[in-house]
Amino acid sequence: MKLVENKNVLITGASRGIGRCTALLLAQNGANIAFTDLKEDENSESLIKEIEALGVKVKFYANNAADYEAVKTLVETVKADFGSIDVLVNNAGITKDNLLLRMTPEQWDAVINVNLRSVFCMTKEVSAIMLRQKKGSIINISSIVGIQGNYGQANYAASKSGIIGFTRSVAAELGSRNIRVNAVAPGFIETPMTATLPEDIVKGWQKQIPLVRFGKAEDVANTVLYLASELSSYITGHVISCDGGMARGN
Ligand code: NAI
Repeated sequence: MKLVENKNVLITGASRGIGRCTALLLAQNGANIAFTDLKEDENSESLIKEIEALGVKVKFYANNAADYEAVKTLVETVKADFGSIDVLVNNAGITKDNLLLRMTPEQWDAVINVNLRSVFCMTKEVSAIMLRQKKGSIINISSIVGIQGNYGQANYAASKSGIIGFTRSVAAELGSRNIRVNAVAPGFIETPMTATLPEDIVKGWQKQIPLVRFGKAEDVANTVLYLASELSSYITGHVISCDGGMARGN
């Protein structure tokens, strides 16, 4: 028996990086995949082909996860296309790093909107469907930075801390209807998002990791698979760190 056989999964920002890897792993474990990203491109096209080859259903939707009206339409369309939405993975995220004194309101708003407002928009619309289904699992991708903060990332840290507060609150609201809401807090994961960081910053991070290696997208995907599956059926309102031990004690 595959871990998420026949579950319909909606995952945001999944054309590349952690989202892509998660979509593939869930599909390998039997799930049908509805995935979004800002626009259709060679990444989304190749992901469709890779998932199709696994013999499950897959559809791509060009969508801005922070645009509430667009999300309403998206969720209605996915429900019509797939029949149900059993798992939501709020993965889309961006960084616009700057020291607070140099940070512009535009940098602040962009990160809060894409990382946090998107989680509100998607969860609000998908949870209405899950309430009628009387089941569901919602998984929000936070970050170690949302737990510990990070130099030059006040906007990103605020958005990722916000996700944790949101997760715990919504888990309390939806638990009695058999809808679980959890967050994953990855540490330093090798993806296109971190590939552009300066070498000295990267080396500084590596020294803080008890497992002495950077994470891979697969490490986060495995954690999401666990939370999407019935293996975690008694776990809600939780934040699972997937960080090689970096946030120990927090
Ligand atoms: P990535 O930059 O490789 O992928 C993010 C995807 O989200 C891209 O395909 C992008 O086009 C899409 N996206 C951006 N804005 C969007 C929007 N408004 N609507 C829909 N899609 C949008 O990033 P990565 O590393 O795969 O990150 C995935 C998630 O994991 C993010 O939420 C990130 O904050 C989080 N994370 C990543 C860590 C890392 O070390 N890479 C560490 C901790 C958390």
